[in-house]
Amino acid sequence: MITVKSDIDFTDNIVLEKVETAFQTLISHQGAGNEFLGWMDIDKIASQSLIKDLQQTADSLIKISDYVVVAGIGGSYLGARAVIEALRPRFLSKKPQIIYAGHHLSEDFLSELLSFLSTVDYSIIVISKSGTTTETAVAFRLLAQHCEKKYGQDASKKRIVCITDKEKGALKKFADIKEYKSFVIPDNVGGRYSVLTPVGLLPIAVAGINIKALISGAKEMSNSLSDSTVNNAAVSYAHARNTLLNQGFNIEVMASFEPKLFFLIEWWKQLFGESEGKKNKGIFPAGVVYTTDLHSMGQYMQEGQRIVFETFLSINKEKSMCKLPHDNDNFDQLNYLAGKRISEINKQAKMGTILAHKDGGIPAIEILIDALDEQNLGALIYFFEFACAISGYTLGVNPFDQPGVEAYKKNMFALLKKEGFEKEHELLQKRIHKTK
Ligand code: PA5
Repeated sequence: MITVKSDIDFTDNIVLEKVETAFQTLISHQGAGNEFLGWMDIDKIASQSLIKDLQQTADSLIKISDYVVVAGIGGSYLGARAVIEALRPRFLSKKPQIIYAGHHLSEDFLSELLSFLSTVDYSIIVISKSGTTTETAVAFRLLAQHCEKKYGQDASKKRIVCITDKEKGALKKFADIKEYKSFVIPDNVGGRYSVLTPVGLLPIAVAGINIKALISGAKEMSNSLSDSTVNNAAVSYAHARNTLLNQGFNIEVMASFEPKLFFLIEWWKQLFGESEGKKNKGIFPAGVVYTTDLHSMGQYMQEGQRIVFETFLSINKEKSMCKLPHDNDNFDQLNYLAGKRISEINKQAKMGTILAHKDGGIPAIEILIDALDEQNLGALIYFFEFACAISGYTLGVNPFDQPGVEAYKKNMFALLKKEGFEKEHELLQKRIHKTK
């Protein structure tokens, strides 16, 4: 169950009407980018037989690996990491540990990683829909060569799994030639909406997380959001944030008092940033983890420019219990908290923060989930995807494309003298010399 609360003054009916229209546009598949609505059909993208295959593949990787390297970037990386970091016990020494690569171009990181992999048993999951994303392809070339050198070509077949497009792209060709196990990213699901496909599900299963329960939570949420705009959590959230945008609050800060949600917030940032930020529109998505960031961003939130609203992502019930003990000396003067659960102290910190920021002129929305488990996280993922699609349509943009991401790639290819970019290379060189 997801609850959305806010104390925003909804005097303006126009925003609600726009959100309701956006809802109809989405569920009737009539909007821009409607060829990318595959994520809405949970039964299809995560069928029983696919889940079985994913689980079997995950089990065989678990058996032979101390480490599994997951290589991918953006939508091919953040969803899996969000779920794994949220649900896997933090100080677990259980095999395999997950290492993430392919989401940057750090030479030091890659060379340190390769040296480390020489000393341990590992497998690789490479994820790229296009198969040509530079960051992922660079890491994968290094990793695949390392793996084949270490284990030999035949044994590498058991250790490398590719998740990619069903026919297009270099990675698919490579996987077929090398006879690596591969899974398909459906054509009708874009990167940032793909966490509930093999893109997210295989790494999540390798991390020992119950993917069936994750999918079941998403399915339940999809049933509860698709019928009507009444008592619809995604509609409430889209309504609240678009109302605030209309009032001049251009920045949404997703705030959680649970550090395990750091990467869930990173995933949310990509989902909303890439879906809404176009045509010079969109709410800028930012994220903080409190109380840590109250000691860094707290001052700005309290007294900086009043263009920010906060969305608190809260969990009702903690999994574990830890109480502050009494101390006879009481040097730290904490005995007034003795016997209290840490979660109780954290909840009061949250209440205190919401009230203080409200006094400082920061409006608040709160999204509550019952517990941090597979069922609730699956529901939360679907909820955000649905709310994001409605919000994008409310703004009048296509929430499923990302034309702006190409600009840096074009420049990078030109600067690196990729074939076909010779003219752009000359032009960029002239610009660079002019600014020197
Ligand atoms: O959401 C998106 O579409 C992007 O973030 C992509 O997932 C990202 O660029 C990686 O692309 P690919 O999977 O083709 O390597």
